[in-house]
Amino acid sequence: MEKTIFSGIQPSGIITLGNYIGAVRNWSRISEQGKGIFSVVDLHAITVRQDPKELRERILSTLAMVIASGVDPEKNLIFIQSHVSAHCELSWILNCYTMFGELSRMTQFKDKAQRYADNINAGLFTYPVLMAADILLYDTDLVPVGVDQKQHLELARDIATRMNGIFPKLFKVPEGYIPSVGAKVMSLTQPEKKMSKSDPNPKSYISIIDEPDQIMKKCRSAVTDSENRIAYEEGRPGMNNLLTIYSAMTGETIEAAVARFEGQGYGAFKTAVAEAIIAGLSPLQQEYRRLMADPGYLRSVYTRSAEEAGAIAAKTLARVHEQIGFVGR
Ligand code: TRP
Repeated sequence: MEKTIFSGIQPSGIITLGNYIGAVRNWSRISEQGKGIFSVVDLHAITVRQDPKELRERILSTLAMVIASGVDPEKNLIFIQSHVSAHCELSWILNCYTMFGELSRMTQFKDKAQRYADNINAGLFTYPVLMAADILLYDTDLVPVGVDQKQHLELARDIATRMNGIFPKLFKVPEGYIPSVGAKVMSLTQPEKKMSKSDPNPKSYISIIDEPDQIMKKCRSAVTDSENRIAYEEGRPGMNNLLTIYSAMTGETIEAAVARFEGQGYGAFKTAVAEAIIAGLSPLQQEYRRLMADPGYLRSVYTRSAEEAGAIAAKTLARVHEQIGFVGR
């Protein structure tokens, strides 16, 4: 039996190098192992305030970035979450089997509640339940995500297991797929922190559509240390991060990279890291520009995908309705 792979991405308009290495890039790789269903999660996005015009643009540019990152729309489904209404419908049902206490323990909720203290809405709180619905609707086997989503994935598994205890075999319990290499790319300016597009300092992150000279500047000004030795060592987050990025972009192991740069200065090393990023992203950037110039094609991808995804989701939802005791339509 072919495996079903599901993942979602926020339409934030910027995919950082961290998102790319830690998550999106793996979608195309892992989707070779089965059927990939990928969603641009606009419903999740509105848990924080969005400008409507920008949101619409970002949904489309994120979709284009996903395709440009190598997810083949001929073999996988790439749809917009709000186009498949079953996500909201199942989410409500799962809400009734998720505990207030469980959601209160979600670290992302706690972080976001702090960051958006003037808008701690119910959607922000139940966000992980919607994510569980996304996953469970497709009888998903594998969920490729970055490490930051591990807790949400565990919750999805808990909800599925709990409901299976009441309604036998209702859901398939999904497995997470968290990459080992480059799972966590750190900020270029504060390498103890994760690379994040919400960082107010744009030098701290690289967007996958940054121009080559921007990438070069950002790498050259990346925070390192004064050890003057290129090596992967405990307590050297800046150096370790650049080595991780280099290794992720070139496919070379960290050990091989360390050997390659032995005796060289930080300047030469940082330039090489930038060049590796520029070379690695260049085909993606060309494809992205081509896609953004062809909205008709993008539309054909997301419409067709939503139709197919909708058909699968509707079946799961009908099964859930049946088992929990609703009257069939
Ligand atoms: N919450 C995820 C993030 O912020 C995005 C997401 C939504 C997702 N639904 C999902 C990821 C389902 C995996 C599976 O990155």
